[in-house]
Amino acid sequence: MKEIKVYKKNKFNAEIEVVPDKSITHRAVMLASISCGCSEIQNFSESKDCWSTINAFKNLGVKIEKNKNVLTVYGIGMYGLQQPTKEIDAGNSGTTVRLLSGILAGNEIEVTIVGDESLSKRPMKRIIEPLSLMGAKITAKQENFLPLKILGTKQLKPLTWISELSSAQVKSCILFAGMYANGETVYQEPVKSRDHTERMMKLLNLPIEVYDRRIVIKGKVNKIEPFKIKIPGDISAASYFIAMCLLSKDSNVIIRDVCINPTRMGFVNTLLKMGAQINITNYRIEYNEPVGDIIVKSSKLRSIKIEPEDVPSMIDELPLLAVIATQCDGVTEITGAKELRVKETDRIKAITLELQKMDAKIIERPDGMIIMGNTKLKPAIVDSYGDHRIAMSLAVAGSIIDAETIIKNSDCVDISFPGFWELYNSI
Ligand code: S3P
Repeated sequence: MKEIKVYKKNKFNAEIEVVPDKSITHRAVMLASISCGCSEIQNFSESKDCWSTINAFKNLGVKIEKNKNVLTVYGIGMYGLQQPTKEIDAGNSGTTVRLLSGILAGNEIEVTIVGDESLSKRPMKRIIEPLSLMGAKITAKQENFLPLKILGTKQLKPLTWISELSSAQVKSCILFAGMYANGETVYQEPVKSRDHTERMMKLLNLPIEVYDRRIVIKGKVNKIEPFKIKIPGDISAASYFIAMCLLSKDSNVIIRDVCINPTRMGFVNTLLKMGAQINITNYRIEYNEPVGDIIVKSSKLRSIKIEPEDVPSMIDELPLLAVIATQCDGVTEITGAKELRVKETDRIKAITLELQKMDAKIIERPDGMIIMGNTKLKPAIVDSYGDHRIAMSLAVAGSIIDAETIIKNSDCVDISFPGFWELYNSI
């Protein structure tokens, strides 16, 4: 449980790269593991969350080797996963539990998944229900929480699931299970969530069709060809440096090689509406994902109202937006974001309480926050609650405060962004 001291950032000019995308890495490791040969994942995310996925598949019998920033995955086929000798530990990673469960549903083995204290409090009914309807046998604490015991079957039934949530984790879980089902599985969501799974499935020539918010996957998929992929930078990781630059005076930052997938661009698009000077150059498509360089200049920002339909494309950036909103002209309102309450911590409560310690004028709402702008933040001792995104958001707040800010539980940044503090301090 380390703590870190952070200080105001003066005018800076920086050119940086951020860590590889965590969401895309999880999916690449999973699909490579069930492919029928040797796949190569270049520039993979070495976040703790992605290691949870890598170690899970190692425990399921997949040989995975790391050589510098390249992973070689010796896929064992769609039905090759081995009964593990111990529980699978997903650590802090919701993506590991929810996506892996979709694959386990189609494999005839019995697996127990556990996780850390935070993950053990997060809802799993959202995947237990659809997977059970497809024929997997799943038990969970209070039918909702880890440990999850999953007994898969080769006779998985197709499903049509009209989801009330826009969750890429639930969507990906069902699409993965859909590969094993005997027929067409349909998934529909209210607002489009991140679509990395669909893009990767298309890249791998899997039988998926995407009609905006409605996706069809045709089972059974008997074979996934091994593949090579290179993971681009993570826009969620980039967002902290975008914010730091916007809020500091006379600064510029260029962030190279970032995945700019439209379903992840809610934060940048919102900032543009608020008056931010952000440009994207060097646009290209790599492995079916758009990639580019993000150029940011310090900007004076206006407040905004975030509506429910804006939320999925910026779900992980909302605590950071609350920090930015303290410095805008006007009052910012975030609505429709009650999913934040079931992330690694209750992110509405956590960011509200900690920003209040810095003198921010911020009010908690059941589904969001109201934040007054143009507030001078004062130094404080704040806590991340062990949540990586809260720690990094507070670091951005600390970067505009004249004196020392102390952030407790600062080492949790490794969950998504190993090297965050080094990069932060280097600027
Ligand atoms: C993720 C999806 C999002 C996001 C999480 C990663 C993914 O969760 O918050 O950090 O990789 O699919 P939900 O889909 O549950 O909103």
